[in-house]
Amino acid sequence: MLTDPPRSPHVTPSSARPADAPVHDFVAIGLGPFNLGLACLTAPIPELDGVFLDDKPEFNWHPGMMLDDSTLQTPFLSDLVTLADPTSPFSFLNYLKESGRLYSFYIRESFYPLRAEFSDYCAWAADRLGETVRFGHRVTTVEYDESDGLYTVHAEQLPGGEHRTFRTRKLVLGTGTPPYLPEPCQNLGGDLIHNSRYLEHKEALQRKKSITLVGSGQSAAEIYYDLLQDIDRYDYSLTWLTRSPRFFPLEYTKLTLEMTSPEYVDYFHSLPPDTRDSLVASQKNLYKGINSELIDAIFDLLYQKNRRSPCPTRLMTNTALTDASYDESSGTYTLGLRQEEQKRDFGLTTEGLVLATGYRYQRPAFLDPIADRIEWDARGRFDVRRDYSVDTTGRQIYVQNAELHTHGFVAPDLGMAAYRNSCIIRELLGREVYPIEKSIAFQEFSAPTDETSGSHRAPAATDPSDLEAAL
Ligand SMILES: Cc1cc2nc3c(=O)[nH]c(=O)nc-3n(C[C@H](O)[C@H](O)[C@H](O)COP(=O)(O)OP(=O)(O)OC[C@H]3O[C@@H](n4cnc5c(N)ncnc54)[C@H](O)[C@@H]3O)c2cc1C
Ligand SMILES: NC(=O)c1ccc[n+]([C@@H]2O[C@H](COP(=O)([O-])OP(=O)(O)OC[C@H]3O[C@@H](n4cnc5c(N)ncnc54)[C@H](OP(=O)(O)O)[C@@H]3O)[C@@H](O)[C@H]2O)c1
Repeated sequence: MLTDPPRSPHVTPSSARPADAPVHDFVAIGLGPFNLGLACLTAPIPELDGVFLDDKPEFNWHPGMMLDDSTLQTPFLSDLVTLADPTSPFSFLNYLKESGRLYSFYIRESFYPLRAEFSDYCAWAADRLGETVRFGHRVTTVEYDESDGLYTVHAEQLPGGEHRTFRTRKLVLGTGTPPYLPEPCQNLGGDLIHNSRYLEHKEALQRKKSITLVGSGQSAAEIYYDLLQDIDRYDYSLTWLTRSPRFFPLEYTKLTLEMTSPEYVDYFHSLPPDTRDSLVASQKNLYKGINSELIDAIFDLLYQKNRRSPCPTRLMTNTALTDASYDESSGTYTLGLRQEEQKRDFGLTTEGLVLATGYRYQRPAFLDPIADRIEWDARGRFDVRRDYSVDTTGRQIYVQNAELHTHGFVAPDLGMAAYRNSCIIRELLGREVYPIEKSIAFQEFSAPTDETSGSHRAPAATDPSDLEAAL
């Protein structure tokens, strides 16, 4: 248990003087799956009092991408709690049991829940957490008071904008990764959309004569498949272009999946920052590729659509969007494109523009008043310690999904969330509540540290008799 000053859990925070507000052990900012998992895992720990704030009115997981048939890319075991505590009442299986769908899920025989179903599950869990989780709270500033060693979190309660304050010893930042637009498309006029708003704009988009989709991650592939299915009904032309050298699949082979492990994070974290940066850049196919079944389904649909006559669609790889303008009178975009291997520039006009160009972490502006309490790396990013702390004391501020550059490609992976939350809970509480695996893989990622321990290293000898002796 964290000691003084005394706290009064579950008291509505005061909007008057911050000093009147109760003191929480921690305030978690942002309620995506990662901090929601933290809420579920801390709920049964009476000596840990946390409050969770999110600006959305309720839990809703990437609603603009909630296509009916899309599934999780990770098995249901990557739910909010199971890999930390398979007995938790917040498990996906318990959600299915309570909602009467467990047998159907069993008969369906797939490890991969529908994404809409996973979102409903998270909303169900958030509902069960009661007052601990507060939606409709946008955090605007965080301050630190040297005199009592406490942080004050200021929030606007939506929709009215009333000022709320929360006092806390520690913070857990889980604000997610906002949509990223390529530089030429930022502040461009018209009705272009990022894929995160696809569904709300789909109808208007399908009334255009031409649609261009940029990017080739899972988001772009799902949207391309969706738009291609309707191409005859609406009569639009559809261009899918991407800077990526090919429409590559998400690598999902088992020895590679072993890299989703504590020991690979240990290994990655121990590498020099430059090596880590180049590794992340080279590992896109481990966390950004398209499900291979979807790639095949797209090909099969193209085959079917081209049976009688050429289908009005084009696919281009190696093609970066480098420039863009919008002509209001014609309602068209002119895109400047570059074939990166040939180094050839060309242009394309389109009425509809969907940018499935990914998501990027942004340092939250609410941290500005406490920027000097945070460790930054040479590139202005959080210098995240192995235990996920980022503050100068190493014991007060923790991050979720802001550590791609320090902990590697597993940072956004739901499958490592329970592990990371178990580590953060250990740090918040000073003891391990959920057993934390040290090593789960059959393979080794680091060279042996003890020279003599490498009994299974290849022997240096080339003489066969030496080899025999070495074995
Ligand atoms: C369409 C899609 C599907 C995905 N599917 C998978 C999958 O199947 N498997 C997998 O492993 N990964 C998947 N991912 C990757 C990753 O798991 C998700 O992006 C996940 O939502 C990240 O969770 P998070 O908690 O970091 O952030 P988010 O889910 O983005 O949540 C962050 C929350 O913080 C809130 N917030 C931000 N600023 C403030 C503030 N100042 N005050 C209050 N609240 C604030 C935001 O409004 C948001 O609600 C997917 C990503 C996308 C885009
Ligand atoms: N069903 C699901 O579970 C599901 C659905 C959607 C997303 N996700 C996950 O969410 C994460 C984000 O996926 P995402 O598809 O939204 O994004 P992403 O994987 O980051 O893909 C972005 C794409 O945009 C391209 N791009 C960026 N800037 C460009 C430019 N200027 N010109 C041309 N192309 C450009 C990128 O090319 P480069 O490769 O060259 O950068 C890349 O192909 C991933 O981890 C993904 O697995 C999961």
